Amino acid sequence: MTKLLVANWKMNKNEIEVKDFFTDFLPKYSHKRSAWIAPQAIHFSLVHQLGQTKGVKAGLQNCSENLSGAFTGEISPRTFKEMGGDFVILGHSERRQLFQETSKLLNAKVKTALKEGLKVIYCVGETLPEREAMQTLSIVGDQIHQGLNDMTEASAENLIVAYEPVWAIGTGKTATPAQAQEVHAFIRGELKKKFPAFGEKVQLLYGGSEKPDNVEELLGQKDIDGGLVGGASLKAQDFLALCGDK
Ligand code: 13P
Repeated sequence: MTKLLVANWKMNKNEIEVKDFFTDFLPKYSHKRSAWIAPQAIHFSLVHQLGQTKGVKAGLQNCSENLSGAFTGEISPRTFKEMGGDFVILGHSERRQLFQETSKLLNAKVKTALKEGLKVIYCVGETLPEREAMQTLSIVGDQIHQGLNDMTEASAENLIVAYEPVWAIGTGKTATPAQAQEVHAFIRGELKKKFPAFGEKVQLLYGGSEKPDNVEELLGQKDIDGGLVGGASLKAQDFLALCGDK
């Protein structure tokens, strides 16, 4: 399976910086790995337009669990899909921690976005105190079972899961390949219980201080099918290296 590298630009880059990124990125991008980008929502159309010349998919970092109505400031997954949107990241730890998004709310968001035909990257991961208390697998297991509750195997077809240990995000501390592989294997096992055939082939991404100098070892693990990248995705040269184009 082709590895997938997803750039989560978070609340970074102005319009000129977005254009500069593509000027540097596109000529060297060779599709060795798939590259998707989630810019600030306000830059979606720009990224969609620039990326589509080379099949770079554009996505959102969050969306509403509702399709329309009186929800000031929210983005409808239906409207996004109509505009050519491809995917949405849901359950990022920053959404869980800073915006109090619970796995129950995320379950509604995941189901709505999938129903609208979007690909969903559902994020899970433990904090440092949780890891130190040996709770990693129980926390991640709860996030999987609550966030993906009440779904049929057919409805999960466009689901991707990202394991992002919270202690590795933006800290420069990467999970070791063995630590990441252990949790990825666990996640695949839990997904196979819910979706026996799909769980076997579901794409699992690792996120947390992934960089050109650690990506190959991480992607070399059996159950790591790609990466969800913050800081290193902001520089075209680094994201190219992550995509296998040095
Ligand atoms: P960093 O790559 O900056 O650690 O961020 C990871 C992340 O949060 C991607 O969603």
